[in-house]
Amino acid sequence: MLGNAIAQLSQLIVVGATIAVTAWFSGGFQPSDIPLGQLARAQGVEFGTAVTTESLQEDAYRKLLVREFTTIVPEYEMKFADLHPAPNRYTFAAADELVAFARRHQSSLRGHALIWHRSLPEWLLQGAFPREALLGVMQEHIRTVVGRYRGQVPIWDVVNEAIADTIDNPQSPWRNTLWWRAIGPEYVEAAFRFAHAADPAARLFYNDYGGEGLGPKSDAIYHMLKLLRDRGVPVHGVGLQMHVDIAAPPDPDAVTANIQRLADLGLEVQITEMDVSLKNSMGSFEERFSAQAAIYQQMLQVCLNAPNCTAFVVWGLSDRQSWLREESAEDAPLLFDRAYRPKLAYEALRDLLETRSQ
Ligand code: XIL
Repeated sequence: MLGNAIAQLSQLIVVGATIAVTAWFSGGFQPSDIPLGQLARAQGVEFGTAVTTESLQEDAYRKLLVREFTTIVPEYEMKFADLHPAPNRYTFAAADELVAFARRHQSSLRGHALIWHRSLPEWLLQGAFPREALLGVMQEHIRTVVGRYRGQVPIWDVVNEAIADTIDNPQSPWRNTLWWRAIGPEYVEAAFRFAHAADPAARLFYNDYGGEGLGPKSDAIYHMLKLLRDRGVPVHGVGLQMHVDIAAPPDPDAVTANIQRLADLGLEVQITEMDVSLKNSMGSFEERFSAQAAIYQQMLQVCLNAPNCTAFVVWGLSDRQSWLREESAEDAPLLFDRAYRPKLAYEALRDLLETRSQ
């Protein structure tokens, strides 16, 4: 009895909290609303999200995705461990499904990510490969994956997160990874050359976090890219992941300056994995959701203002799918809530795009 009463009471509290929260969400789509992706595309910027094949099973997810976004990124289906679980075995089914989905819906797809220190299969982690052998593994992997989707995947994140978080010595800013330990920093150049050989028309990106604005990590990324460009390495773009937090918002002027110096190297830029965490801040939902909305809007504005910024991609369709919830179940970092209702952040992006298209 008492248990029941407590259960009912806590349900009431949950319902109460939900109502309080949803009061800060907008009323949803109006039939006359032009989808965000369409508005963004008209201004030269693709609007994208990370997706998974499981989520695509769900009707509501698929409808919202197809309606609002013009580009998709496999959240993990193209990572090394997922595609290449044994030395002589590839598993392409999930990646194929996403490539076919994109084609059916006139979306583009960003291939993510060929060479990374995470999501590696055991055979690679335990393999203790010497330098030449690991270069061989890398070449074969890249040739097979990029070759399979040649002409179908226009952009690849070739190397992901090669620069360390703290840089003690700017001469050696490298993250200590399996690739770096066995091959040395030349692994970055090798990966780009292998990818270019496998699909000469693909645009090849370096992707990282924490180097969106200015500072030691961003400088290290810039210098690495400058050296690569000077050496004629086929690198065409930079992904700024943009995993940020309302407690430490990115500085729009610094991001603008960074995108400009990358443009001066002849590089395209994309915002590739944006989410805006609320978990490190107190305050009411109203305050936190409006702080979040302002950050999304500022970053889209920075991208729209930069001729070389060609995509604005968020890391998950709705708060229900966010990877950040593994760490903090209550976090709500994306543009739609867990019931797929547009949040203030979505409205802020829409306001900006509508204003600029007038
Ligand atoms: C994350 C995915 O969201 C998780 O589902 C997965 O388990 C681990 O990777 N930087 C990246 C992304 O480049 O690939 C990461 O995605 C998030 C950080």
